[in-house]
Amino acid sequence: MTPFLTGIRRKLSDHGQEHLLRFWGDLDDAQRSALRADIARIDFPLMDRLIEKWIRDEPAEEAFGSIQPVPLIPKVGAGTADSREALIAGEEALRAGRVGLFLVAGGQGTRLGFPGPKGSYPIGPVSKRSLFAFHAEKIRNLQARYGCTLPWYIMVSDTNEQATRAFFADNGFFGLSEADIVFLQQRMVPCVATDGRFMLAEPGRLAMNPNGHGGCIPAMVESGVIDDARKRGVDTLCYFQVDNWAVKVADPYFIGHHVMRNAEMSSKNHRKSEPREAVGVHCLCDGEYRVVEYTELDLYPQLLETDEDGCLRHAAGNPAIHILSTDFVERVFNSFDQFPWHRAFKKIPYIDETGRAVKPEEPNGYKFETFIFDALRFIKHDPVAFEIGRRGEYTPIKQFEGANSVVAAWDSMNAYWAEWLEAAGVRVERDAEGKVAVPIEISPAFALTKEEFIEKVRGREWPQNGPIAIGPDGGWIVPAAR
Ligand code: UD1
Repeated sequence: MTPFLTGIRRKLSDHGQEHLLRFWGDLDDAQRSALRADIARIDFPLMDRLIEKWIRDEPAEEAFGSIQPVPLIPKVGAGTADSREALIAGEEALRAGRVGLFLVAGGQGTRLGFPGPKGSYPIGPVSKRSLFAFHAEKIRNLQARYGCTLPWYIMVSDTNEQATRAFFADNGFFGLSEADIVFLQQRMVPCVATDGRFMLAEPGRLAMNPNGHGGCIPAMVESGVIDDARKRGVDTLCYFQVDNWAVKVADPYFIGHHVMRNAEMSSKNHRKSEPREAVGVHCLCDGEYRVVEYTELDLYPQLLETDEDGCLRHAAGNPAIHILSTDFVERVFNSFDQFPWHRAFKKIPYIDETGRAVKPEEPNGYKFETFIFDALRFIKHDPVAFEIGRRGEYTPIKQFEGANSVVAAWDSMNAYWAEWLEAAGVRVERDAEGKVAVPIEISPAFALTKEEFIEKVRGREWPQNGPIAIGPDGGWIVPAAR
């Protein structure tokens, strides 16, 4: 046995994980080096702590004396002096180049059943352009409008980094400058069986999962994103999820409220559609800002209660749109050993002792993850909690059909863009129930707001029937075959 192997074996045995080398004798050189690399990535003290807390001990759930709704800054439509002031402040920050974009795209997207990175999903109802393309077109529009560069930091993971980079390269970086797109990788953590032992996905590979989007905090500091942002003069990072097609990637109102209050972290909130909608809930737990995840709602039944008019008392849903200041990210990083972890009991394919590949029918192991909204626990002064409507802001794509699906997102964006068309005096075909009857698609590079759209389409001739689709350069889009 080489001294190197003896070292690994000792380390694994000290942590009760020596079974990972069970098939070592059967592995070729490439497999051995892959397994060595997987083992080298394990943070053993962290994993020992998680296994002790979450598997050996059954941890007590957090109990709160009081849970109150968060005070929300009302949506833009309210047209208050505060919102006009916020718009000015937000636009100023954009023009001054203080704003960067942070996209989390490292998840596994299992529910959608789509083989590639979720951002490559062909969401455009007419053009089949991808989620990434739509996000990039918003950035092109904003950069032109504010004469600024919005560096785009994209967090990927082992599961999708290569495919994501290739997708951007194959699509010419969607017309953005390659130098302003920075990919960073989040860490992976081992999946753990119910007996506290790590699992093998192949004889020479560990079963691992990305460390959750809270993993963006160490990833941003360790990969040099924070340094890069500072060099560019960026101190305000707009955070969004790849699966939200409608997201306003750098909303000047939201940025304005954040910078005016010198906030460390800000969050958008949308009204939940029903008590069990699969979104986290923003609330004040014993006076602290928290998001209670939808999977934990039964622990706090008051979050499901309605008032005498049938309205939810805690309706502030979490669309996962935040702003983080660069100083705050660094401060949270310095205390990241206190950042909370969550565990999820999942079906994890593995290799059993005989070397047989098993695809379990029932959950058989734990995935450990961190959540970005837990950074709220580290704030020193009140965050901004900003209310938004759903249409034109939040169309998450978690599955193909049903709630929060591709089909629901198409309907929502169709209704949103139909309002623009009608405001511009264009007749839109609707069915007997008033639902828009033709697919509509408007590239955000062409128009990002209704006002911009009306201005740009003045005097234009419109098709009498069929889809209405306008591409990034303003030309008609020919429907792509689905
Ligand atoms: C998430 C939020 C939920 C919110 C909802 C809004 C969590 C735990 N909950 O739920 O509060 O109301 O979105 O749509 O996130 N990702 C990574 N790395 C990871 C894991 C995820 O980058 O390790 C990214 C994914 O690519 C995706 C996003 O994070 O962009 C959300 O992940 P997803 O698993 O879809 O979260 P939800 O359970 O839908």
